[in-house]
Amino acid sequence: MITKKNIPFFNYPALFKEQEKEIMVTLHDVMSRGAYILQRDLEEFEENIKELIRVKHVLGVADGTNALILALRAADIALGDEVIMSSHTYIATAASVHFVGATPVLVECGADHMINPESVKRAITDNTRVIMPTQLNGRTCNMEALQAIADEYGLIIIEDAAQALFSKFNGKCAGTFGLAGTFSFYPAKVLGCFGDGGAVVTNDDRIAERVALLRDHGRNKQGEVVMWGTNSRLDNIQAAILNMKLKTFKKDIARRREIASMYDQALRDINDLTLPPAPDVDNKHYDVYQNYEIEAEKRDELRSFLEECGVGTIIQWGGKAVHQFKGLGFDNVRLPVVEKMTSRFLMLPMHTALNDEDVKYVCDCIISFYRK
Ligand SMILES: Cc1ncc(COP(=O)(O)O)c(C=O)c1O
Repeated sequence: MITKKNIPFFNYPALFKEQEKEIMVTLHDVMSRGAYILQRDLEEFEENIKELIRVKHVLGVADGTNALILALRAADIALGDEVIMSSHTYIATAASVHFVGATPVLVECGADHMINPESVKRAITDNTRVIMPTQLNGRTCNMEALQAIADEYGLIIIEDAAQALFSKFNGKCAGTFGLAGTFSFYPAKVLGCFGDGGAVVTNDDRIAERVALLRDHGRNKQGEVVMWGTNSRLDNIQAAILNMKLKTFKKDIARRREIASMYDQALRDINDLTLPPAPDVDNKHYDVYQNYEIEAEKRDELRSFLEECGVGTIIQWGGKAVHQFKGLGFDNVRLPVVEKMTSRFLMLPMHTALNDEDVKYVCDCIISFYRK
């Protein structure tokens, strides 16, 4: 008989408690300086991210959705252009394409839940301009395969790396493969602020210059408006919080990987489950486990059982792939692989406030469900 515990899917109050003093000092420092918009904390943050993921330019912006929109605009993606992405992504990936006037084209994902390169190839038309892989759940796609397709067909890559800060493929960080990459610092992200936040990263000087203008009403350093722009700056106070959190970031990622290993070891023999790749399963990927997304036979029953056990789980994006939302123009799109998976996806608790006993409890509950 297992003693019942309460393991929420995510635990903001516990994470706040862990760093309360430092958070308060940081907020006091920023506010007492009156440093709110485009101030030194943001510059420091941009430098920190450059160093962390080895990229030439980082521009803090309002959130991950705006990061995508600004990156697409900076690359002149507009009406008539098609952008290929996996349908197993957040609506924001597709919405950003819609909002620059272009057309999102949705394709299948593979067994690891990442965009399927063969499916990308089949979707290419004369109007295709961009491949937009989502670096999902803290894993980086097979960028070799995607780059080969992009090179063959003269396409650009813009990575939606909202979920994958510091995740790597062949030693190179998510977001740094394509013409541009984007990140989200939504509170539950591997690096999360206390509200909305995002960034565009690029090694391309022109893209960086254009995003810097686009995020600040098209104004250059002298305050002169030189192009149409909008207001999409990362708040300085959020940047200061992110700088503070970066101090423990690598340790936090190591802990996420440890938790993923514990899940893997405890659950890998359950035939009714498909687990994400384990941390050290191959030497090409370095995953940061933004999410631990499993596939489960009897998913809904398992979820209810876990709820009764006090374990919070989430079905990512409400259990629908982008093409399954009605009224967005995808009613004729059929993607059997993604569709089968959306009825099986389930995310287990994954955050640094989980201790080993918590993880063991989640695993014991799952094991007892399949033994019933
Ligand atoms: C894959 C993906 N793309 C884009 C976004 C959008 O980021 P934001 O919520 O910061 O706008 C998210 C955030 O949840 C995401 O997970």
